[in-house]
Amino acid sequence: MQGQPHIQTGARVAPPAVSAAARRFGVLPMPNLAWTPEVARETAHLYEKVKQIIPPVEWPFHAPYVKAINALKKERNAVILAHNYQTPEIYNCVADVVGDSLQLAKLAAKSDADIIIQGGVHFMAETSKLLNPDKTVLIPDSRAGCSLAESITGADVRALRQRYPGVPVVAYVNTSADVKAEVDICCTSSNAVKVVESLGADTVIFLPDRFLAANVARQTKVKIIAWRGACEVHERFTADELKRYRADDPSITILAHPECPPEVVDVSDFAGSTAAMIDYVKAKKPRRVLMVTECSMADNVATETQGVEFVRPCNLCPHMKRITLPKILDSLVYLKEEVTIEPGLAARARRSVQRMIDLV
Ligand code: 13P
Ligand code: SF4
Repeated sequence: MQGQPHIQTGARVAPPAVSAAARRFGVLPMPNLAWTPEVARETAHLYEKVKQIIPPVEWPFHAPYVKAINALKKERNAVILAHNYQTPEIYNCVADVVGDSLQLAKLAAKSDADIIIQGGVHFMAETSKLLNPDKTVLIPDSRAGCSLAESITGADVRALRQRYPGVPVVAYVNTSADVKAEVDICCTSSNAVKVVESLGADTVIFLPDRFLAANVARQTKVKIIAWRGACEVHERFTADELKRYRADDPSITILAHPECPPEVVDVSDFAGSTAAMIDYVKAKKPRRVLMVTECSMADNVATETQGVEFVRPCNLCPHMKRITLPKILDSLVYLKEEVTIEPGLAARARRSVQRMIDLV
C-alpha cells in the first residue's frame, strides 16, 4: 500500500481545551478588528486622553481593540481592574478602575460585575479572586508573575514560624495565595507601617521584600525580621544615578516607590505607593518630576497632569507588560485564563487580606 496516506482508524483527536468559565458563559465570535472611519469616530474621545503619549501613527493598531473590548465588556457584564503600571492604552482607554494594589483590592471587594479581568500581575488577580470567590476572575496572561511573589512559598513561611515561634507575620500583598494563607495579615506599600504597628508586638516578620522591610523599619520602633526578596524593577535604581539628576537640576522633584533600596529613598523628596505618587504630582504640580518606578507610571500620570515635565529613568516590569489589548480581548471572547484557588486555602488567605482591609 505504498503511497497511500496512513489513516489511523479510531484515533481520538483531543477537543480544543474549553475552560470552565467558557462553558459557563459561552465563547463569543471574535469581533472584526479592521481600522475603519467608524472605529476612528467612535474612539476619537479616547484618543484625546492619550494623544500626548501615543503617536497618531500607532492609534490605528490600538483603536479596533479598544472599541471591541469596550463593547464586549458590556455584553459580558465584565469589569477591567488595571494597576497603575499598565500601558497607557489599557489604563486610559479600557480600564474601569485604576489604582495601586490597595485600591484595586478594595474595589475588587465591591464589584458587582459577573467577570473581573485583572490588568496586572497574577498575585493581584488572586487577591481579586479571594475577595470575590463566586465571581469569574480572569488574567489575560497567567505568566504575568512578580519577582517578589516568586521569592517565597507557604513552606518558607511555616519554616520561619518554627524558627521564630510566636512572632507575627506580615506579608506584602505581592505574594501568592499559598503564602497569604500562612500569615497573620497582609499589607501594601501604602499601609505597611500601620499594619506592622497594629499587631502590638515588639518584633514582626515582614516578607518578602527586604527593601520595603528596611524602609518600614526606619519608621517604627517595632523590630523587623525581613525575608530576602526584592522587586527586580526597583532594586536596580541607585542613589548615585539620582544624585546625578539632582546635580544637573537641583530643583527637580524626585518621587520613589518604597520597594527601592533605602539609600534611593533617602535621595528622594517623597516615597509612597504608586497611588500616593500620583496624588503627590496632582496636588503639588511640581515643575519637573523624576519618577523612580516602573515606566508606564510617568506616562499615565502625564495624561492627567498638564504642565508637569516628567523625567523617566524608568525600568520596565516585564510581567506587567505581558498584559496587552489583544490578550484582554481574548479573555473577553474565550473567557481565559481563569484564576482558581482551592477553597480551603482561599479561606485562610482571604482572612489575611480582609484583616488588612478592615484595618485601613
Ligand atoms: P503599589 O501597591 O504601590 O501599586 O505597588 C505594587 C507594585 O507591584 C509595585 O511594584
Ligand atoms: Fe513585582 Fe516589581 Fe513588577 Fe511590581 S514592579 S509587579 S513588585 S516585579
